[in-house]
Amino acid sequence: MIIAPSLLAADFTRLGSEAARAQRAGADWLHLDIMDGQFVPNISFGPDVVAAVRPHAKKLFFDVHLMCLKPEILLEPFVEAGADEIIVHVELGERVAPLLWKIRALGRKVGLAINPPTSIAAVLPFLGQIDLLLVMTVNPGFGGQSFIHECLPKIQQADAWRRAKKLNYRLEVDGGINNQTVAECAHAGADTFVAGTALFHRRNMKAAIKKMRQIAHDNDPTLADLKV
Ligand code: DX5
Ligand code: ZN
Repeated sequence: MIIAPSLLAADFTRLGSEAARAQRAGADWLHLDIMDGQFVPNISFGPDVVAAVRPHAKKLFFDVHLMCLKPEILLEPFVEAGADEIIVHVELGERVAPLLWKIRALGRKVGLAINPPTSIAAVLPFLGQIDLLLVMTVNPGFGGQSFIHECLPKIQQADAWRRAKKLNYRLEVDGGINNQTVAECAHAGADTFVAGTALFHRRNMKAAIKKMRQIAHDNDPTLADLKV
């Protein structure tokens, strides 16, 4: 189980120390929500901020989520800035396949995201090419939104395809993830959990991450069979 705090919910006046706090608190990954004000109605931060944060959290895997209309021009800058994985949105249509190849060619992990209104069938052509599928559980653009329960069947379907096709992409969820919704997502097959508000807004982030990881583990159906 991977717990990935989203920097979007951190104190923007202290992003370096917030990233260090997440690392000390036992996070596995740092999720970096990049918003361009076009693909989503908000602007967050760019490659220079990611590069500035990178040395403060050397041990964390940087999971860069591009909610951007033209990710083609951003791939190299974010690789330079220290991205370990780059996620692009399937809503970009014809441009998705070349984008995935480009991320792979740059030597980084390849992620594909899908928004709540988009049919899960849209990701089928790409499942063999990706390291991670991100099923958005809110409409992207802002942290602190409510979880959209109608997304759960998409997680189940993505997990079923992963098993049926014997693929091993990670199944990530992002948006409104807390100690209640993490259980539902884990039970549906998710194994990688982005949480901003539920983690960065807690004084004791270590306890919050530990609790979320435990709940995810306790609701992992693949482990249920092992329980005697
Ligand atoms: C939406 C963002 C948020 C953020 C997490 O575009 O991607 O989902 O990461 O937000 P919380 O965990 O605060 O809902
Ligand atoms: Zn995200």
